[in-house]
Amino acid sequence: MCGIIGYVGKRDAYPILIKGLHRLEYRGYDSAGVALINEAGKLNVFKAKGKVAELETFATDKDTTGHIGIAHTRWATHGEPNTANAHPHYSASERLAIIHNGIIENYSVLKAGLMQEGYSFKSDTDTEVLVQLIEYTQVDRHVDLRTAVQLALQQVIGAYAIVVLDQEHPDTLIAARKGSPLVVGIGDDEYFLASDATPIVEYTDKVIYIEDEEVVTISNDREVEIVTIGNVQKPPEIQRLEMSLSQLEKGGYPHFMLKEIFEQPRTLTDSMRGRINLRQDNISLSGFIDNRERFINAKRIIITACGTSWHAGLIAMYAIEEFARIPVEVEYSSEFRYRRPVIDKDDVVIAISQSGETADTLAAIQLAKERGAFIFAICNVVGASIPRVSHSGCYTHAGPEIGVASTKAFTAQVVALTMLALCIGKEKGTLSPDKYFAIVRELGQIPDKIERVLGQNKRIAEFAKMFMYAQSFIYLGRGYNFPVALEGALKLKEISYIHAEGYPAAEMKHGPIALISREMPVVVVAPQCGTYEKVVSNIQEIKARKGRVIAIVTEGDDLISKIADFVIEVPRTEECLTPLLTVIPLQLIAYHIAVVKDCDVDQPRNLAKSVTVE
Ligand code: AGP
Ligand code: GLU
Repeated sequence: MCGIIGYVGKRDAYPILIKGLHRLEYRGYDSAGVALINEAGKLNVFKAKGKVAELETFATDKDTTGHIGIAHTRWATHGEPNTANAHPHYSASERLAIIHNGIIENYSVLKAGLMQEGYSFKSDTDTEVLVQLIEYTQVDRHVDLRTAVQLALQQVIGAYAIVVLDQEHPDTLIAARKGSPLVVGIGDDEYFLASDATPIVEYTDKVIYIEDEEVVTISNDREVEIVTIGNVQKPPEIQRLEMSLSQLEKGGYPHFMLKEIFEQPRTLTDSMRGRINLRQDNISLSGFIDNRERFINAKRIIITACGTSWHAGLIAMYAIEEFARIPVEVEYSSEFRYRRPVIDKDDVVIAISQSGETADTLAAIQLAKERGAFIFAICNVVGASIPRVSHSGCYTHAGPEIGVASTKAFTAQVVALTMLALCIGKEKGTLSPDKYFAIVRELGQIPDKIERVLGQNKRIAEFAKMFMYAQSFIYLGRGYNFPVALEGALKLKEISYIHAEGYPAAEMKHGPIALISREMPVVVVAPQCGTYEKVVSNIQEIKARKGRVIAIVTEGDDLISKIADFVIEVPRTEECLTPLLTVIPLQLIAYHIAVVKDCDVDQPRNLAKSVTVE
């Protein structure tokens, strides 16, 4: 979690760092801080609890001059979100300052050792232990800063992306990573360092992704130098960024989340571009073509992911089992990585992640790789860690997703996974050509159909107001729309802080039906397909107990519209594609309830966009 940024060059560092923090703020917003070395060679650190704006207010009358600096926006893991625990952290002599993303798992052992050497600590963080350890190593072993960083990191268990600033070297930044992302941006006589490319894109499109256990030295009068913590030289590999600045701005919408919901017709077109041909009768996914045998001979497919990506994985389970007749298991990465799962060489593991940096998913991949499985990544962020450690994969091309609650990344994942399921089914011969063509053609119609659902936004906004005082919601769905119910409930919880539960509709009578009352809104996802009639009966059961039903139905459904309290229509489509339409009203319901409740839609409390710690 958290965002880190560094700058060294000829410009004033402070405005670049602050702007960068705003771009990275979606990653964490418990506190923010900046360290700069001024013209007189003094290392200044300023920090404030809360968002970046608080830091700006705090720093208005401070000396924020300097052409080199580092900055951090925190998502607290060790120590409460207050000013003392905010980064950057000084070393004991205040010669060094560090920013850190991740967790130093053995920090208490290291801290005890340093205390015996007479060190004291100003914060409760694991990070401060690391900067003290670096300084101790520097002094004790009489080594330069880079060597001290290497030696200190050899003692560290855990995950980190760090940047260290040294008052004695006001032209150099030393950074390193393991498990947390770090990217270097190369400008003209200036360099940037950041957790992801979003703060870099307006200055340069030349980047270097730092790998695990690499230490990078950047200085405005020298080439970038990379060595491992074990001191092996690594040639820097410069890559081009495919991201534009306009993608990172709100474009007239009040929130990124609403912008991203409305972008979905276009992002799904982008996800399919070059993959579905113009005649709309064939899909070609290079990641599948290159690994055709692995997929069609797979004995089992294991899908691993977290949160919303896990919901996309559940939808993929329905599609892959239906079309390709391969058994699929969908695993929470955090459970999978620790429960000694049975993994075979013939298994295909599909890892799904918007950010490509989720720590648990990365660890799950590592485990499956060690057991010889083939790893296929479905990822949105190009060049992120997950696609880089996987054997192959498919980018979702939804563009940068800034709102903490995932929306457009989810639908793009569902499209990518559906295309993959169709490719496997077609090549295995388990899916009839007629069905294949029908679904491929229909995929091409999805962006226009989403547009039609979005056309009901105003109406949804109006009725959402009625639910702002609800204490709890239930979301029900079956088949392909059971994961949609889970996703709808997650969206509501995340941004409106209303408790919500997603349930398979037929399971309701095994427990949750006891909760039904006039006070409990029940959202039922009920398109006309699959088990439609059964879902209608489930709605009757709720109405019989005076529950209030909001139903998502197929256009022209006059059966449910007679019994439900509120109905939102979505166009008719193939059953496997219904989630792409039914999830849209659920995203909008959550959004509008959060807005009327005056919640922080894009940066909900306690959350962060990418969970790069366990
Ligand atoms: C989605 O709204 C969430 N904020 C969260 O559940 C997210 O989907 C999860 O953390 C997984 O992230 P990833 O897709 O980047 O791996
Ligand atoms: N573990 C560090 C802390 O709690 C860094 C957390 C982060 O990644 O923001 O301060």
